[in-house]
Amino acid sequence: MLNSVNWIGIRFEVNGEKIDLHNLEVQSFRRELNMQEGVLYREFAVKLSSGLIFKAKISRFISMLRKEIGAINYQFEIEGGAAEIKISPYLDFDVLNHDSNYDEKFWEGLQETAEANGAQLKAKTRKLDFEVSAAMQFELRKGGQLIQSEINHQKASKYAECSLELAAKAGETYSLRKYAAICSSFHSAKENLDSEAKSLVEKAAMDGFELLLEEQKNNWAQRWEQSDISIEGDAEAQQGIRFNIFHLTQTYTGEDARLNIGPKGFTGEKYGGSTYWDTEAYCLPFYMASAGKEVAKNLLVYRYKHLPKAIENAEKLGFTNGAALYPMVTMNGEECHNEWEITFEEIHRNGAIAYGIFNYTRYFGDETYLAEYGLEVLIGIARFWAQRFNWSEAKQQYVMLGVTGPNEYENNVNNNWYTNYLAKWCLEYTSSVFDTVGKNDAEALKRIISQTNFEPEHELANWKKISSNVYLPVDEAKGVVLQQEGYLDKEQILAADLPISERPINQHWSWDRILRSCFIKQADVLQGFYFFEDDFSEDELRRNFEFYEARTLHESSLSPCVHVVQAAKLNMMDKAYEMYLRTSRLDLDDYNHEVHEGLHITSMAGTWLSVIEGFGGMRVKNGQLHFNPRLPEHWHSISFKINFRGAVVKATLSNAAPKLERISGEPVELVIKGETIAL
Ligand code: BGC
Repeated sequence: MLNSVNWIGIRFEVNGEKIDLHNLEVQSFRRELNMQEGVLYREFAVKLSSGLIFKAKISRFISMLRKEIGAINYQFEIEGGAAEIKISPYLDFDVLNHDSNYDEKFWEGLQETAEANGAQLKAKTRKLDFEVSAAMQFELRKGGQLIQSEINHQKASKYAECSLELAAKAGETYSLRKYAAICSSFHSAKENLDSEAKSLVEKAAMDGFELLLEEQKNNWAQRWEQSDISIEGDAEAQQGIRFNIFHLTQTYTGEDARLNIGPKGFTGEKYGGSTYWDTEAYCLPFYMASAGKEVAKNLLVYRYKHLPKAIENAEKLGFTNGAALYPMVTMNGEECHNEWEITFEEIHRNGAIAYGIFNYTRYFGDETYLAEYGLEVLIGIARFWAQRFNWSEAKQQYVMLGVTGPNEYENNVNNNWYTNYLAKWCLEYTSSVFDTVGKNDAEALKRIISQTNFEPEHELANWKKISSNVYLPVDEAKGVVLQQEGYLDKEQILAADLPISERPINQHWSWDRILRSCFIKQADVLQGFYFFEDDFSEDELRRNFEFYEARTLHESSLSPCVHVVQAAKLNMMDKAYEMYLRTSRLDLDDYNHEVHEGLHITSMAGTWLSVIEGFGGMRVKNGQLHFNPRLPEHWHSISFKINFRGAVVKATLSNAAPKLERISGEPVELVIKGETIAL
């Protein structure tokens, strides 16, 4: 994912001196992200060498409604005397990516124009001829009045600017409004990009900043109406969850099945904007419950579109017969990761993609997705697992060798419990979906059989033979499953014994040391207990949770949320709360000292899980919503809305008296603390 045109730039010079907060004496500074409105506010005052004070108050946003539009209202005034101010709003496509080699640039300029009170740039990417056209317009006002003045223009490669001179009076407030429209060949035909950007920016300027701002606030109000979680009795926890919901909402709006969610969203370059298993394993539930079915469906259809590439990917590794291995990291279906121990071995992601289909179907109770898209994906995935297991003569069971589980502090292990369990489940689930589609839609099944060259008798029997005899390592004495074969051979030390100064270990230890230690980066066995909780008793969960939590360092942001859900289920509320703060305030408090790399967008969805499934105890079972609230002691209540099968339900949950209301839609039956109620 490349950084694109810088549309926000405005340069100010006061009597020839540049306004630059880096070099001037800053008298005050305040920056506020208003999450309710979706607007970034900034205010500052700086002292110039002449003693004059320049004060600015800026509002800026990217419109949630007009997806190509960004707008800035830059109010300023001068104190201490009159001054000549030169103002230069500009567009700049000469941008860098921090992760490029030798500062290589990725954009080639195609066209620069600047005339009247506007400018426009067009550029294309070097390799893929992806084109972007950006147009800007501005106006200068005093009070409500437009100020007309002579405008000069300057152009350079990938750069265009307008500038004007203002004889500013002391104490008067001026405001520069800058509008930008950015259109890309991902959405429109190349030949239309320029005219589209131009007419969109003109329309935005004509409608004006106030109207755009009003639209923005209304749009966010609607989004908050659906997705807000309120936590009574804990301001820090409240701010944490809202910060997460804000980012999830602006990162993915779900109108286009060619798009997905990167672990950093658009907030940083790390992970390259690509899609990981994070989407299915962590993000999907938030979008299902808050944004609705079409949005959630687009996340899944994304993978359906990539099925041919996943088959190609598996073929490259020697798999046959339509076996599909989805990439660990991708934009367009191709594998973009370059470490063998991840691309070839961290294959559990294939199972998460199947789990996403299961989760979606369970949540919406809609089996048509399976016939339309789901079964084809599942067949590809099941074929992969059937070939990836091998028969062990020694064990007389099917085993899976040379894998990396979710815990990336182990590579190339044999029989990772989570991967084996998930793969076995995929084989069973795909067989059951085959039956379901056969019952619901015989025509669709015929089409799928022919498209995939499926041999039902042979393949289903083979899957059954394998799935009924998969090796799952356990330690009988400790009563726990084993993360992988041989895990107990490692020196068993606990996370509590690891000095803080050595954490995170991936910044302090060699890989040799990490790989030999028993420390766990993120939920691995416990990820399996999370996905398949109904397969295990509470006792089994407790034993495994106590054993693995004590060895887990949570050095992936995806980890604490799973532990919150389980700790709350086990009534270990101190642990649940500790883990909750860690996940929900990870970026606000910069726990892992890495916020400069971007925000942990996909783990923010995990935070949502930790409130709704952890403290709210929400589950979907047999087509019904269940709640089993268990809140940290000092929380009075949590309340949130859930969009479930045509009904919007508002839950206000407390340890004492949970309350459920149907806000709109169809009547619905729910189960609260085991008791069924009709709304
Ligand atoms: C985690 C992966 C995750 C990736 C992107 C890594 O640190 O170990 O499980 O998919 O980050 O979030």
